[in-house]
Amino acid sequence: MSRFSALTALLLSLPLLAIAQSPLYGQCGGNGWTGPKTCVSGATCTVINDWYWQCLPGNGPTSSSPTSTPTTTTTTGGPQPTVPAAGNPYTGYEIYLSPYYAAEAQAAAAQISDATQKAKALKVAQIPTFTWFDVIAKTSTLGDYLAEASALGKSSGKKYLVQIVVYDLPDRDCAALASNGEFSIANNGLNNYKGYIDQLVAQIKKYPDVRVVAVIEPDSLANLVTNLNVSKCANAQTAYKAGVTYALQQLNSVGVYMYLDAGHAGWLGWPANLNPAAQLFSQLYRDAGSPQYVRGLATNVANYNALSASSPDPVTQGNPNYDELHYINALAPALQSGGFPAHFIVDQGRSGVQNIRQQWGDWCNVKGAGFGQRPTLSTGSSLIDAIVWIKPGGECDGTTNTSSPRYDSHCGLSDATPNAPEAGQWFQAYFETLVRNASPPL
Ligand code: GLC
Repeated sequence: MSRFSALTALLLSLPLLAIAQSPLYGQCGGNGWTGPKTCVSGATCTVINDWYWQCLPGNGPTSSSPTSTPTTTTTTGGPQPTVPAAGNPYTGYEIYLSPYYAAEAQAAAAQISDATQKAKALKVAQIPTFTWFDVIAKTSTLGDYLAEASALGKSSGKKYLVQIVVYDLPDRDCAALASNGEFSIANNGLNNYKGYIDQLVAQIKKYPDVRVVAVIEPDSLANLVTNLNVSKCANAQTAYKAGVTYALQQLNSVGVYMYLDAGHAGWLGWPANLNPAAQLFSQLYRDAGSPQYVRGLATNVANYNALSASSPDPVTQGNPNYDELHYINALAPALQSGGFPAHFIVDQGRSGVQNIRQQWGDWCNVKGAGFGQRPTLSTGSSLIDAIVWIKPGGECDGTTNTSSPRYDSHCGLSDATPNAPEAGQWFQAYFETLVRNASPPL
């Protein structure tokens, strides 16, 4: 072969090589999949389910042709308990500190020159905060956290609990724009979502000694209660229900304690919304086969409401359920009569300062907010298992860049903080505000 033709052959082969193999964690097969069916070196094509085969780390028998059979993983069974321990899943467990959030908070502290504020910022890294799995690419890190929590448990003799948020439904955030996600219903989104859930499950089942508590899909079911007039939500209804049902069943099979997201007092807490909400939660729960590890609901996720306000914020006028405790007390009987387990966790991560919103519905990087009450099992209510921090304070709610496809007008309101990056990105100025205004102080 001449030097020229050898070069040509090499160049021609490059794009072929580039599309012939899927990357680590890429899809490599499944019903309807027309992309590459082999994985890059060091990864093995693994059947996650009928629709989703994925390149997972390891050098197992790699699928070398479309017809070869990859290694199989199952998503049910395994050594996990099938009957949940009675009572509050937090009782008797240490909460694992997310290294992801701790690293964000430490990096933020390093940028603060004032010594007092810096020291306060560093304390935030020590406060247990949920880890959000908002894209499938992050799911691989769950195994690392679980492995570390397992090792901590073995070395200390204590039991550890890892807190996660499951957040990747197709057509996510259907009534807003800021947190639109990676999967779309029109483009195989429900199957991709099932693959995402299977990926979480595959890792959780490897660490039966670590307890996992999950918040399921912030805003999704609440949108189905109140926002079916938004066409994207109406169109998403079937996929949301199917996706959440799949998540409940699969996560149940590996013993994950689950709280479905239930909006907040200013959303589903309006009297007219309570019964429709309770009916939706109960129906979905029953249709999923009453999964035993569904423990209840999570409220106020990424919101700013007080658990128990000393007096109603003026913007709550007209709603007797002006804080989370009133909302929970009003919702619980309707849940109980529908057969749904009425236990709650409540996000207070950014609820330290009250009366900061112009409208109750304002949710985007609200100015003047502060870190709130610390996570505790001393909740003052037998309905509430724990006060927790779910939204990682400092991660942005939505961009102020009006030319972004995810620009939502709520982020341009006068009570929203200016110069905000994309949702989920670190927002240093906002973090510093939360630190400064923390109540109780850090
Ligand atoms: C927003 C973002 C998401 C992030 C979450 C927690 O919902 O869209 O990416 O993980 O907030 O900060």
